[in-house]
Amino acid sequence: MRIHVVDHPLVAHKLTTLRDKRTDSPTFRRLADELVTLLAYEATRDVRTEQAGIETPVTATTGVRLSHPRPLVVPILRAGLGMLEGMVRLLPTAEVGFLGMLRNEETLQASTYATRMPDDLSGRQVYVLDPMLATGGTLIAAINELITRGADDVTALCLLAAPEGVKLMERELDGAPVTVVTAAVDERLNEHGYIVPGLGDAGDRMYG
Ligand code: PRP
Repeated sequence: MRIHVVDHPLVAHKLTTLRDKRTDSPTFRRLADELVTLLAYEATRDVRTEQAGIETPVTATTGVRLSHPRPLVVPILRAGLGMLEGMVRLLPTAEVGFLGMLRNEETLQASTYATRMPDDLSGRQVYVLDPMLATGGTLIAAINELITRGADDVTALCLLAAPEGVKLMERELDGAPVTVVTAAVDERLNEHGYIVPGLGDAGDRMYG
């Protein structure tokens, strides 16, 4: 597993406003959307392409287009839904699947309550969207499901990560074809499993 922290002043600026508890829901959703598009630019650096011949108004030339099969984008409900538009803005031809997952507030264990995606993901590049990587339980379960279905290249986009979750993912997904792209790795998790300093509960701030 690889982790890539996107170091860019616009990313840091938007993340700071997201963290601010005075930021209201409409502004939070808009900024999350903008931030995802910036992360998506980095996250798609290795998107598979193939050569394509075209004719410009001047001459014939060769460019690139996205390879088949199309990439799959999987937001993890609820909060990941707030990242979908920002992602498909850059990958408008991507197929979209859904995973509904919930973390138990006491045990911090993740469980899956809804799954809608192709059974066979052989040879597919998959982009998973989840704003918070806290204990890592949710993303590990989601990525294991994708790999079981045959995905051979998984990139997770997170707005924020905790070092504890990154460490667990590195241990559990050692050697797996997985990249995590995030705007920041924060200090720690608190006793309630919240990222510190973090931005609170992303799902509640978007949809609560
Ligand atoms: C939050 C968040 C992640 C998960 C992260 O979702 O959006 O999916 O917790 O926690 P973990 O890394 O410790 O597993 P939540 O369960 O609150 O659901 P929601 O998106 O529906 O609010």
